[in-house]
Amino acid sequence: MKNKYPFPVMIVHWLTLVLVVLAYITGGDPTVHLKSGELHVFAGVSVFLLFFIRIIMISIYRKDLPHNKPMSKYQKTLFLMVKHTLYSLLFLIPVLGWFTLSGLTESYQLFGMNLPLISNSWDVEIIGETHEFLGNFFMVLIGLHALAALIHHYVFKDNVLKSMLYFKK
Ligand code: HEM
Ligand code: HEM
Repeated sequence: MKNKYPFPVMIVHWLTLVLVVLAYITGGDPTVHLKSGELHVFAGVSVFLLFFIRIIMISIYRKDLPHNKPMSKYQKTLFLMVKHTLYSLLFLIPVLGWFTLSGLTESYQLFGMNLPLISNSWDVEIIGETHEFLGNFFMVLIGLHALAALIHHYVFKDNVLKSMLYFKK
């Protein structure tokens, strides 16, 4: 059994973090804040595409994934709940952002290319607020996920954090 995630899975994991942070700090109405908005949409769309690449990677490397042993049954349930919520938000937040953008404007150019939008008649304000709320909730959850990884490393002194790091033996 391997004790590290395969390198391509690590790349997707850490690249997603960089893009989520970029999307978060550039958050705002992209039709008003043009430059930071373009970065926001770029980062968000990239997170969305990486979500599918991640699923493909995880299924390709299914047999090579480390099985970090949870300390208890309760920890295992918590790990799976956080993992599935993180996965769901990686998909849901960009989709809601796209719905919001579609309600705010009829066309949107991302680095000179037209982003396909959908015509809709729903309440943009509610969808926009949900997008914003989930974006903030996502950051809290990522913080807890990172804290758990650090606790594993410094308190339990196990292999969990190292399994996602290329350099640490
Ligand atoms: C992981 C990806 C994303 C995160 C974490 C995220 C986060 C956020 C946050 C926190 C805000 C509120 C900022 C504020 O007003 O202070 C926001 C606004 C917005 N985002 Fe995103 N976003 C993501 C992806 C996207 C994508 C892919 C799109 C469009 C294709 C998008 C479109 C928008 C729009 C239109 C708003 C303005 C909403 C409004 O004014 O009601 N976002 N985003
Ligand atoms: C955008 C931010 C993040 C997301 C969406 C995320 C998501 C995930 C997911 C879904 C997994 C399970 C493996 C997989 O399916 O890829 C995972 C594993 C892991 N993540 Fe993150 N993560 C993020 C940020 C972080 C940060 C900031 C840290 C540490 C400082 C971290 C440390 C780890 C570790 C150590 C594992 C391996 C856990 C194990 O197998 O027991 N992650 N992450």
